[in-house]
Amino acid sequence: MKKYILILLLAIFPATSFASSGVHLDTAPIDIYDKDSIKRGAKSFADYCFSCHSAKFMRFNRIAKDTGMSEEEVREMMIFTRNKKGKATKIGDLMTVSMTEDYARSTFGTAVPDLSLTARARGADWLYTYLRTFYADAYRPTGMNNIAFPDVGMPHVLGQLQGIQKPVYVTEDHNGVAVERIEGFETVQAGSMTTEEYDAFVADLVNFMVYLAEPVQTERRDMGVYVLIFLAIFFVFAYLLKKEYWKDVH
Ligand code: HEC
Repeated sequence: MKKYILILLLAIFPATSFASSGVHLDTAPIDIYDKDSIKRGAKSFADYCFSCHSAKFMRFNRIAKDTGMSEEEVREMMIFTRNKKGKATKIGDLMTVSMTEDYARSTFGTAVPDLSLTARARGADWLYTYLRTFYADAYRPTGMNNIAFPDVGMPHVLGQLQGIQKPVYVTEDHNGVAVERIEGFETVQAGSMTTEEYDAFVADLVNFMVYLAEPVQTERRDMGVYVLIFLAIFFVFAYLLKKEYWKDVH
């Protein structure tokens, strides 16, 4: 029985249940209907992430269509390289990268995951927390660690914008054993953005990744509202019809 309840809960809360690693997650202030935010996020994704990460379930021209940008604008904003076959990348191509898995493994010690569905697998709040909680850790090969993804292999590629922060520890007494816990951060090297600017920048990026993971979600939600309105009106007719059918029976 317990197993079925768990399966039911997982079905109802998929993103939250997988993301629960015991880490406190900040709520991502995103609005999936805000197309300008998605556009800004797409630009940041192209500038800062797309050199390593693919989004191979998405085509460039779909982004143009969904955000209201022209294909030319998207080409200029997002296409910098040739495609996998060495030919000029077309606007209808999938968003693949040319980095091979072998190269990634030798450089980062791990493959670079495709980011098409990450927002669905991890949840927006996890992404928002992940991109804001890189911290200096001399024991890591990249010199950086992460709160949401301990011992992550990804370098802090947004370090120039956010700056570098180091953890502030508090020591807690766990039944006589002193345990150190990260309580907050302190900036050791300022970035080019203020904290508010950086948070807004990350929110746009997360908004884009949430769109990426399910491009039709705004249509799906709107459709749901229409279906409920239809059902409400249909209910009136169904009820009148039922009354008509049963009127001689009673
Ligand atoms: C220099 C290459 C590189 C760049 C640029 C880069 N990443 Fe990564 N990223 C990685 C690697 C490598 C991993 C795998 C880390 C691991 O498994 O330890 C990773 C992992 C991730 C993950 C975790 C995925 C998961 O579910 O496990 C997310 C999310 C992510 N990156 C987002 C981004 C975003 C957003 C950007 C742009 C701001 C970005 N990355 C830029 C190399 C990169």
